[in-house]
Amino acid sequence: MKVAPSILSADFTRLYDEIMRVEDADYIHVDVMDGRFVPNITIGIPVVQKLHEKISVPLDVHLMIVEPERYTERFVKAGASILTIHAEATPHLHRAIQQIRQAGARAGVALNPSTPLDTVRYVLPDIDLLLIMTVNPGFGGQHFIPAMWDKIGAARDLLDSSGSSAILEVDGGVSPDNIGRLASLGVDMVVAGSAVFGSDDPGTTVRLMQLARRS
Ligand code: DX5
Ligand code: ZN
Repeated sequence: MKVAPSILSADFTRLYDEIMRVEDADYIHVDVMDGRFVPNITIGIPVVQKLHEKISVPLDVHLMIVEPERYTERFVKAGASILTIHAEATPHLHRAIQQIRQAGARAGVALNPSTPLDTVRYVLPDIDLLLIMTVNPGFGGQHFIPAMWDKIGAARDLLDSSGSSAILEVDGGVSPDNIGRLASLGVDMVVAGSAVFGSDDPGTTVRLMQLARRS
């Protein structure tokens, strides 16, 4: 299992040191919130750029902002390796995805818990990652929504049946307690914030979660 610790749950006053504790992670997940798409404001382009300059772990940048197409190019230039936008945040999803790829990053699409999977059907050939939100976006430390188990299984089926090689990513309420079940459902990559940075040893927690395999 690929694991992307979310820095939202890290100590922002010591951000670099916090990331160094999880340097074996596959990606560092950066949650960008604008106070409009979600009821919280976090960090933006300058932080992505500095992290890209200072750390070697690739950045998985999750944009929770309205009209993401206005900012995709700048986030890619700043150093996003994967740039994920929300399907609900733009009327021009296909165009925004193309912009991300043209700028040189891999393109992800995220779906809120209530958004039907079918929303991404016609962009599947154009995406590199499908992100199933298993909490309502905006905050770390929330509980995994049980109805999402079914959606994750359906997302795996959709990707397989369409021949898509997009990564299936899950974000929200992921911990060592549920990672085995996520692996069994064919999830390729998880985001974990509070479970990693709230643990005594974030590095060990990441390595433990990486051991999860599809059974
Ligand atoms: C929520 C963010 C998540 C969040 C996950 O809007 O997209 O990435 O940091 O936090 P946990 O793992 O604590 O649910
Ligand atoms: Zn996220």
